[in-house]
Amino acid sequence: MSELNLTLKVWRQATGDAQGEFKLYQLRGVSTEMSFLEMLDVLNEKLISENEEPVAFDHDCREGICGTCSLMINGQAHGPDNETTTCQLHMRKFRDGDTIVVEPWRARAFPVVRDLVVDRSALDRVVSVGGYVSVNCGSAQDANALPVPKQDADRAMDAASCIGCGACVAACKNASAMLFVGAKVSQMALLPQGKPERANRVLNMVAQMDEEGFGACTNTAECEAACPAGISLENIARLNREYFKASLTSSR
Ligand code: SF4
Ligand code: FES
Repeated sequence: MSELNLTLKVWRQATGDAQGEFKLYQLRGVSTEMSFLEMLDVLNEKLISENEEPVAFDHDCREGICGTCSLMINGQAHGPDNETTTCQLHMRKFRDGDTIVVEPWRARAFPVVRDLVVDRSALDRVVSVGGYVSVNCGSAQDANALPVPKQDADRAMDAASCIGCGACVAACKNASAMLFVGAKVSQMALLPQGKPERANRVLNMVAQMDEEGFGACTNTAECEAACPAGISLENIARLNREYFKASLTSSR
């Protein structure tokens, strides 16, 4: 185990309306075994002992599952590791003497609440207009009663691994939510249970996405590069196909 001396440049903003600014903090003896959030815990203990306000940041599971942790680290959503959430990022990725810049997600649809915490309820509202199957399915059927091709089941499972963190939005120069919405539409469009509400689902979710102020996709693929769950761009292509088909066939 080795230890790092770091300079942290952290975005501080008391409320959504307040003027924000970067503040510099020196942190000594940071273990390379720590996760990034544990390092922030150490910073906060230091700030509290110095009678300063601790830095507010989002976290819950700290296991890469809940999608709550959300930081821009040196300009990268979730930091420098591929397919890794901030809570699973370790300090061994950094070098002694590094300066690390820590910012909140930046997007019009994600207003800053405080310091590094942003309001991501826009994603919940997109899901609430169609990201579910509303028919009552009754008891579990026999496994072979509803055949699903293996390839479709695998693709649906891959799409369902989106943890709703919003890194795709934060990484996109247009703050587009197409990767997130593509994953949510795909996981159901690919399975028989999702078919009855397929057209309305995609039309409603895209309309809500636009209403929330997310930008358009211009195929720069930063979303895919930032995604900790490895959600593929093929889900954006499927979203576009689903939307086009629904626009032609929906009776709404
Ligand atoms: S698509 Fe990836 S980056 Fe976007 S919300 Fe889902 S898990 Fe996060
Ligand atoms: S805290 Fe749950 S994914 Fe990071």
